[in-house]
Amino acid sequence: MDTAIPRPPDLDVVRESYDRAADAYVEMVTTTGLGDIRAHPWLRAAMDVFADAVVGRGPVLDVGCGPGQVTAYLVERGVDASGVDLSPRMVEHARRAYPHCRFEVGSSTELDLADGSFAGLMGWWSLFNLPRDVLPPVLASFARALMPGGHLIVAFHVGDDDLVRTEAYGGVPVRWTTHRWRPEQLVALIEHAGLQLVAELRLPAPGPVGSGVVLVARADR
Ligand SMILES: C[S@@+](CC[C@H](N)C(=O)[O-])C[C@H]1O[C@@H](n2cnc3c(N)ncnc32)[C@H](O)[C@@H]1O
Repeated sequence: MDTAIPRPPDLDVVRESYDRAADAYVEMVTTTGLGDIRAHPWLRAAMDVFADAVVGRGPVLDVGCGPGQVTAYLVERGVDASGVDLSPRMVEHARRAYPHCRFEVGSSTELDLADGSFAGLMGWWSLFNLPRDVLPPVLASFARALMPGGHLIVAFHVGDDDLVRTEAYGGVPVRWTTHRWRPEQLVALIEHAGLQLVAELRLPAPGPVGSGVVLVARADR
């Protein structure tokens, strides 16, 4: 089986954009609560159930962890969580804010994930920049890396279209595309990757990029 993940053509531009936006993103999380699950009861509830499902079962990787606040939230709950992010500046913030947690720089498309080695994998508002043909093999790599009974949690912006962003987080110039997906498309991709859907949480409240969805799936092999 060909398990190669294509390199997104805009990966470097996306990395540079998040490097530029990282300081403003951290400011946004700390001052407005956006991006802070503690300030959003439904997101926090989903993460709490995920934490209960994975705690004590093995390592959990927060892929696209940004400044690390969700990774640290899980570590506080006893989860063996670490984070990886494309943007070195995001990782710098994460390491400074949570020196007791582990963070690395890396792309979801280039992770060397051993088969069956993770109790949990996360793509928490962090897989929407992947081109439409790249997301499926990335999800497949996550599915292979989960141990039997392991859980995946993902959060996505919902829609049919691709939003080309030229600024984000209060006016920082960026160049990236937010690929919005319909929940049923994501469910199909997750099931095609070999995982069983466990929960789906719709978030209809309009935000800066519209509504969202959280999906949780389990590896039943
Ligand atoms: C909207 S932020 C979310 C960060 C964090 N998960 C949170 O909830 O605050 C999106 C993050 O995804 C990261 N990202 C984008 N493309 C990525 C990729 N290919 N591999 C790893 N991280 C990526 C960005 O650097 C950024 O930190």
